[in-house]
Amino acid sequence: MDQPSAKTTSGTPAFLRALSGEKLAVPPVWLMRQAGRYLPEYREVRAKAGSFLALCYNPDLAAEVTLQPIRRFGFDAAILFSDILVVPQALGQKLWFAEGEGPRLEPVADAARLAEIDREAGAGKLDPILETVRRVRASLGSETAFIGFCGAPWTVATYMVAGRGTPDQGPARTLFAQDPALFQAIIERIIATSIAYLNAQIAAGVDAVQIFDSWAGALGPEDFRRWCIEPTRRIVEGVRAVHPQTRIIGFPRGAGELIPEYVRGTGVDAVSLESEIDRDFAREAIQSLVPVQGNLDPLVLRAGSEALESEVAAVKAAFGSGPFVFNLGHGILPDTPIAHVERLLKAVRG
Ligand code: CP3
Repeated sequence: MDQPSAKTTSGTPAFLRALSGEKLAVPPVWLMRQAGRYLPEYREVRAKAGSFLALCYNPDLAAEVTLQPIRRFGFDAAILFSDILVVPQALGQKLWFAEGEGPRLEPVADAARLAEIDREAGAGKLDPILETVRRVRASLGSETAFIGFCGAPWTVATYMVAGRGTPDQGPARTLFAQDPALFQAIIERIIATSIAYLNAQIAAGVDAVQIFDSWAGALGPEDFRRWCIEPTRRIVEGVRAVHPQTRIIGFPRGAGELIPEYVRGTGVDAVSLESEIDRDFAREAIQSLVPVQGNLDPLVLRAGSEALESEVAAVKAAFGSGPFVFNLGHGILPDTPIAHVERLLKAVRG
C-alpha cells in the first residue's frame, strides 16, 4: 500500500499533475472506453450481468470492470464504468440497448412528451452508480487517478430528441431550428441533473471529471456557442461552486478551430483532442491555454502496423513539450487486439 512508484512524486498521481499544468517526461496515459468488449474479462462479466445497463447499475460488477484495465495494463487513470445516457434515464426517459445496434430511447420531440417524462424523473435513480464510485475509490491504488464523467447537454439532447444515434444529429438540429424554447427546456434539465450528478460523483470519490461532447462538430459557430459552449460553461460553474479544486476536462469532439473559444468560454481546465485535429494548430492555439489529452487515431491502434509506433511518436513529439495526457482521439474499437494496447503502452512509456 502507498509505496512510492515511478508514477507519483509528491503523492499526486501523474495524471492529475499533468492536468495541473505540469510537463512530465513520460506522459500519463489512459484510453477512452478502456473498459469494454476488446477485453475477455469484460465480456465475461457483461455476460454475467445479462445486459449493458444491468452492468451499469450493478455496483459490484461495474466496479470490477472499471478496475480490469488498470490491473491488466496499469493505466494512469481509471474511468467510471457507466454511460452518458443514464442522465436521460434519470430525467424520466425510457432507455434500452438493442443488441448490436446501440442505444434506444422514447424520443422527446414535443412539449407533451417532455411533461410526461418529467413525471417519471428522479435523481435517486443514479444512486447505484455513486455506490460504484465509492467501491472503486476504496480499491484503487493511490498512484491511479479516478475520472468521473457526464455527457455534454448538446450530445445528450441529440439522443433524447432522436431516440437513437443519428449520422447527422438531424432531429435535434431540426428541433432547435423549429422550437428553440422547447430545445432550451430540454437542455436546462440536462444541465441541472449533470451538475448534481458530477458533484455527487466527486463527493463519492472521483478526482477529475470529463464532459463528453461527441457531436460538437455537427454545429456551426453560432449554434456551437449557444448549444455547446454556454451549457458546458454552466456545468463548469455549477461544479466549481461546490468543488473548486476538481479538474474538469472538456471533449468537444470535432470542434477543431473553435476549441480555443470553447476553452475560454467554458472555463474547462483541459481538453481532449480528436484525431483529425491539426497538431501544430492544437499545440500553438490550445495547449498554450490549457493541458491537452489525446489524440491517437483508434484505427491506427487497431491496425497495429509500424504506423502504431510512428504515430505514437508523432503525438508525443507534437504535445510532449507541454502539459499532456496520452489518449486516443475517440473510444477504443471493440475488435482492437490486446497486444496492440501493450505495444502502445511500451511506445508511450519507453
Ligand atoms: O470510457 C470508458 O471506459 C467508460 C465508460 C463509457 C461508456 N460509454 C461505456 C459503454 C463512457 C465514458 C461512455 C460515453 C458515451 N456513451 C458517449 C461519449 C463518448 C463517445 O464514445 O463518443 C456516447 C456517445 C455514449 C452512448 C453510447 N453508449 C453508444 C452510442 C453506445 C453504442 C455503441 C457501442 O460502442 O456499443 C453505447 C454503449 C456502450 N457504452 C458500451 C460501453 C462499454 C458498449 C456496451 C456493450 O458492452 O455492449
